[in-house]
Amino acid sequence: MPIFKAKERETPQVDFSRLPRHVAIIMDGNGRWAKRRGLPRTAGHAAGAETFRTIATYCKDIGLEYLTVYAFSTENWKRPAEEVSAIMGLLKKYLLEAIGKMEKDRVKMKFLGDLSPLSDELKELCLRTEEISTHYDGCQVNICLNYGGRDEIVRAARALAAECAAGQRKAEDITEADLSAHLYTAGLPDPDLVIRPSGELRLSNFLPWQSAYAEFYFTDVLWPDFTREELNKALAAYQARSRRFGGV
Ligand code: FPP
Repeated sequence: MPIFKAKERETPQVDFSRLPRHVAIIMDGNGRWAKRRGLPRTAGHAAGAETFRTIATYCKDIGLEYLTVYAFSTENWKRPAEEVSAIMGLLKKYLLEAIGKMEKDRVKMKFLGDLSPLSDELKELCLRTEEISTHYDGCQVNICLNYGGRDEIVRAARALAAECAAGQRKAEDITEADLSAHLYTAGLPDPDLVIRPSGELRLSNFLPWQSAYAEFYFTDVLWPDFTREELNKALAAYQARSRRFGGV
């Protein structure tokens, strides 16, 4: 059971025995957070990386099964080279630290996205982190890196088409489960709760297939200001909803 700071006790009650299995977060608002403080955007990403550490640790502590975060989209390469390199540098720093304390944390890590354009060093770090943590049973943290939801679906469609062309399956037999099995998220449960901070009300190509029945939680809080208390609010809001999956 997590230990709460005084302020966190004021938040709506979360029933930790019925948490969503899978929470996905769009870590948005780093740039605006920095701008409001007269800092470079890269300082916002550094603060965002700290928030990610805090939230990932909290998710592990409360016993959440899966946390997925959007760290870098297929569209983020359009940002200035300095900003892209700062984000990659923060990832590298985080992974080096994570590897150092993995044995203790037992967090399982996975990367979702096309890692091929990353530097050899970062690619190697991602693979090493995944390999070391393969058998860990703590919270599974998925980092979406060079990830785009439409790109992911196109890749799955191509793979299925290739299997049809090779005579391994028939087009008319393809099911939703077959498509799911060809996504980066193959084998993971769909997200139950998708959180987007920073006041933006869109999905921005984040897990569009997987989020078909997810609950959404939006808040004006910018990602670097997102605390454990904010996550508790999102969890409590989720628990107050009734999920019907298209039924009654
Ligand atoms: C969106 O905010 C944020 C990103 C594109 C990068 C997120 C990266 C990190 C939090 C750091 C590295 C991650 C890990 C997992 C260690 P924005 O820049 O679009 O903000 P804005 O909308 O206010 O401009």
